[in-house]
Amino acid sequence: MLSVFLLLFASLDRHLHLITAAGSVTDYAPNVNVQCPDISTQPIVRVFTPQNQSLHPREKEYVETRQSTTIADAWKDWLGDGSAISYNTTAFTGQFPKIGLAIPGGGLRAAMYAAGCLSALDARNESAKAAGTGGLLQVSSYMAGLSGGSWITSSLMMNNFPTIKDLVWGNGNDLGGWQLDKSLASPDGLDILSDLNQEYYGSVLWSVMAKASAGIDTSITDPWSRMISFHFLNETNSQNFFTNNTAHGAGQLFSSIPLIPAYQQHLVPFPIVLANSRPVGSNLTTALSPEPVVYEITPLEFGSFDPNLSAMVNITYAGTHLIDGFPPNGSACVTGFDQVGFVMGTSASLFNQIFDFARNTISGFSTQDSAGLTYVLGRQLQAVRTRADDVANWPNPFQGLKNNTFEDSDKSWLELLDGSSNQENIPYGPLLANARGLDTIVTIEGSADESNNWPNGTGPVFTAARLSTILRSSHRQFPPIPPTAEDFVKFGINARATFFGCNPSQSPPEYPLVIYLPNAPPINGDNPVTNTATFQLSYTPKHSRLFLDQVHANTINGFTPNSNKPDPNFGLCLQCAAIDRARFKLTPVLSRSSICSQCFEQYCFDPQNPPSKVELPGRKYIFVDPDPQGLTKVSGFLTRNMIKLIGGLAGLVAFLIALIVGLLWWRKRQEKQKYSRVASLHEDVDMPWRRYSDQTLTAAATYELPEHRPAGHS
Ligand SMILES: *[C@@H]1O[C@H](CO)[C@@H](O)[C@H](O)[C@H]1NC(C)=O
Ligand SMILES: *[C@@H]1O[C@H](CO)[C@@H](O)[C@H](O)[C@H]1NC(C)=O
Ligand SMILES: *[C@@H]1O[C@H](CO)[C@@H](O)[C@H](O)[C@H]1NC(C)=O
Ligand SMILES: *[C@@H]1O[C@H](CO)[C@@H](O)[C@H](O)[C@H]1NC(C)=O
Ligand SMILES: *[C@@H]1O[C@H](CO)[C@@H](O)[C@H](O)[C@H]1NC(C)=O
Ligand SMILES: *[C@@H]1O[C@H](CO)[C@@H](O)[C@H](O)[C@H]1NC(C)=O
Ligand SMILES: *[C@@H]1O[C@H](CO)[C@@H](O)[C@H](O)[C@H]1NC(C)=O
Ligand SMILES: *[C@@H]1O[C@H](CO)[C@@H](O)[C@H](O)[C@H]1NC(C)=O
Ligand SMILES: *[C@@H]1O[C@H](CO)[C@@H](O)[C@H](O)[C@H]1NC(C)=O
Ligand SMILES: *[C@@H]1O[C@H](CO)[C@@H](O)[C@H](O)[C@H]1NC(C)=O
Ligand SMILES: *[C@@H]1O[C@H](CO)[C@@H](O)[C@H](O)[C@H]1NC(C)=O
Repeated sequence: MLSVFLLLFASLDRHLHLITAAGSVTDYAPNVNVQCPDISTQPIVRVFTPQNQSLHPREKEYVETRQSTTIADAWKDWLGDGSAISYNTTAFTGQFPKIGLAIPGGGLRAAMYAAGCLSALDARNESAKAAGTGGLLQVSSYMAGLSGGSWITSSLMMNNFPTIKDLVWGNGNDLGGWQLDKSLASPDGLDILSDLNQEYYGSVLWSVMAKASAGIDTSITDPWSRMISFHFLNETNSQNFFTNNTAHGAGQLFSSIPLIPAYQQHLVPFPIVLANSRPVGSNLTTALSPEPVVYEITPLEFGSFDPNLSAMVNITYAGTHLIDGFPPNGSACVTGFDQVGFVMGTSASLFNQIFDFARNTISGFSTQDSAGLTYVLGRQLQAVRTRADDVANWPNPFQGLKNNTFEDSDKSWLELLDGSSNQENIPYGPLLANARGLDTIVTIEGSADESNNWPNGTGPVFTAARLSTILRSSHRQFPPIPPTAEDFVKFGINARATFFGCNPSQSPPEYPLVIYLPNAPPINGDNPVTNTATFQLSYTPKHSRLFLDQVHANTINGFTPNSNKPDPNFGLCLQCAAIDRARFKLTPVLSRSSICSQCFEQYCFDPQNPPSKVELPGRKYIFVDPDPQGLTKVSGFLTRNMIKLIGGLAGLVAFLIALIVGLLWWRKRQEKQKYSRVASLHEDVDMPWRRYSDQTLTAAATYELPEHRPAGHS
C-alpha cells in the first residue's frame, strides 16, 4: 500500500508540473509538516469562560471599524436624514444598532432564497433601493450561514461581494456564476457514464486523493465539498467546467477572506459558518439532541461560544491536532485545511442521517439496494484513507481542554455535521453570543419545514429552547415567539414578514429584535416557484430567474392584511425595525415615532394578540414548476427510479447514487488503463473496504497523527 501512495505522489507531482499558475484541483490538499509558530509567545488556541467571553481582537477591530465608517455612511444612504420615518438619522450617529443576518440551510433552494432576499435588501439594486428595503444588507455587521446558507455566504465573500446578479449569473468576465443548470451530482446530465461526467468525477476524486495522500483522513464530505466548490467558488464557468484548467476553488481558504478587497475596505458583513458535532464514538445516525457543541468557522477562528467549550483556534491552523493547545510536534503543524469548499461541505454534511453503517443500510431504500449502495461506497472510499465516512473529519485542536465540560476533550478528532442536525436550521447561535452584542437579527428564512417546503418556525422554536437552557450563561435569549410550529402556521407568521421582540421590558433590551423574512407564497396569488425541495440539485435558467424575481418581489412588498396588495410602506417599516434598537442607546430612551408605531402594529408579533393566517387570503401554497420542459434529467430519473422518497433527502440520495456509481465507473476506467497515468494507483482493486481503524501509516506519516493510527492500536 505504501507503493500506492508513492505512486500517487509521483503522479500528482508530474501533473503539478503540467499545470501552471492557474492552480490545480490538487490544491485541495492541506500542507502538513509546517513549522508551527512559537506557541509560548503566539498561542494558537484561546480559551475563555462563558461569563467572560471575548472576541478575537481582529474581529472586534473589523466590526468596530466597519460600524464607524462604511456602516455609518450606509445608514445615511439608506435612511437619508430619517425624516421619512420621523427620526433624525444624525442624532443616532455612533449609536446605530449592530445587525446580523442569519441564512439557514436547505440546499440550493436556501441559497437561492437568500440570493433573492439579499438582492431586495441590497442598496445596489435599483428596485430594492426605490422600495426602501435596499440598504439593510449594507448596514449589517455579520452574516451567518449554515448548510445551503453557508454556500451563499462563502460565495459572496470569495467572489469579492458582487451584486447578486453578477454572483448568480456571472459577469462575463472574472465571475462564472453559480452554473445552477448543471447538477451537483451529474453536471453533464443523467448519463453518469458520459465522458464529461466521468471527467468531472475524476477531477473531484483527484482532489480528495491529494488530501488523503497528505495523510489526512477524508470521508464522503470531501467529494461533496469539491462538488459545491464548482458552483459557489469563483474559478468555474461554463467553458472550463469539465476541464482541469483551473483549481475550481481548490486552495481557496477561509483564512484568506481578510485579503479580499471588499473585506479590506470593510464592505462586507463579517462572515460566520456554522456546523454541528456528533459526540465522537457515538456513531449517531439520527437528529442530534441539543447538547453537542455547535461550532463556528470565521475568517479568523474555528471553535465555539457554547459554554462547555468556550474556546477558539486560529483558523490558519485548523487541521492541526493540538493537545492542551500545543502541537505534539512543533514542526508538524497543518495549514490549508480550511478550504472554503470543505467549510461549506462540513456545514452541509448531513450524511450520517442517511447512511447507517451499523446496519449497512441507507434509510428509505430496500435492503437489497442499500446493501449494494453501501458496498459500492466502500469500494469508492477504498481508494483513499477514510475515517468516519458519514461526517466531516476535523483533527481536534481542543484536545485536553475543558476536560470537565467539553465532551470531546479526550478525542483526537472531531466529527462535524450539517449545521441543522440539531434541528436548529437557522444559524442564530453565533449571532447571539454575548460577546458579539448584536441588537437586531435578520432571518433570511428559506427553510423547508412543512409538507409544501415552506418554513413553519421549527428552527426558531428549537433555537429558543437551546438558548434558554444550554446557552443561558453565554448567549442572549430569543424574543417571544409562538411556542410551536403549529402556532407559527396558525398565526400565518411563517408566510409574511414579522418582527419579534419589538417591546422589550428592559433597557438595554433583554433580547434582540428579530426581523423574520420567510419564503412565502406570492402575495398576489401567483403560483409559487420558490418552495422547491431541499435537494433539487439543479435549476434551469428560466426557473432560477423566476425564483429570484418572485423572492425579490415578495421581500420588497411586505403585505397588506386581508388583501393581495403590496404594502407601499414596507420599505419604511423595515427601516423602522432596523433602526429601532438605536432608540435605547440614547439617554433618555427616545420614544418610537408614530409612523414606526403604526408599522409595528402590523408587523410585530404580539403574543397577547396573535394574528391569523386568514389575514393572508388567496395565497397558493403548492409548488408549480414554471419550466416543466426544462425538467432536468436528474429529476426525471428521480421520479422513475426512486423506490421511496424520503422527504427532502430524496435528491441527495439520488446524488449519492450518481456519485457512487460514477466514481465506481471512474475506477473501472482506470482499471482499463484508459488514463494510464493514474491507473497504476488502482491495481489492488480487491483491497477490502478499509475503515480508519484498519489503517496502517503510509508514506505521508511524517504528518503528526493521533497516536491510535499506527498498526496495533485499538
Ligand atoms: C516532527 O515532524 C517532522 C516533520 O516536519 C519530522 O521530520 C520529525 O521526525 C517529527 N518529530 C517527531 C519527534 O516525531
Ligand atoms: C475577562 O477577560 C479579560 C481578558 O479577556 C480579563 O482582562 C478580565 O480580567 C476578565 N474578567 C474576569 C472577571 O474574569
Ligand atoms: C439632527 O440631529 C443633529 C445632531 O444631534 C442636529 O444637529 C440637527 O439639528 C438635527 N436635525 C433636525 C432636523 O432636528
Ligand atoms: C477569486 O478567488 C481567488 C482566490 O481566492 C482570488 O485571488 C481572486 O481575486 C478571486 N476573484 C474574484 C473576482 O473575486
Ligand atoms: C482531470 O483529472 C482527473 C485526474 O487525473 C481525471 O480523472 C479527469 O478525467 C481530468 N479531467 C479532464 C477533463 O481531463
Ligand atoms: C462506533 O463505531 C466504532 C467503530 O466501528 C466502534 O468501535 C464503537 O464501539 C461504536 N460506538 C458505539 C457507541 O456504538
Ligand atoms: C494565526 O497564527 C499566525 C502565526 O502566529 C499569525 O500570524 C496569525 O495572525 C494568526 N491568525 C489569527 C486569526 O489569529
Ligand atoms: C484535566 O485538566 C487538568 C488541568 O489541565 C489536569 O490537571 C487534569 O489531570 C485533567 N484531567 C483529566 C481527567 O485529564
Ligand atoms: C456541560 O458540562 C457539564 C459538566 O460536565 C454537563 O453536566 C453538561 O451536561 C454539559 N452540557 C452540555 C450541553 O453538554
Ligand atoms: C413543521 O416542520 C417540522 C420539521 O419538518 C415537521 O416535523 C412538523 O410536522 C411541521 N409542523 C407543521 C405544523 O407544519
Ligand atoms: C435587481 O433585482 C431584480 C429582481 O431580482 C433584478 O431583475 C435586477 O436585475 C437587479 N438589478 C441589479 C442591478 O442587480
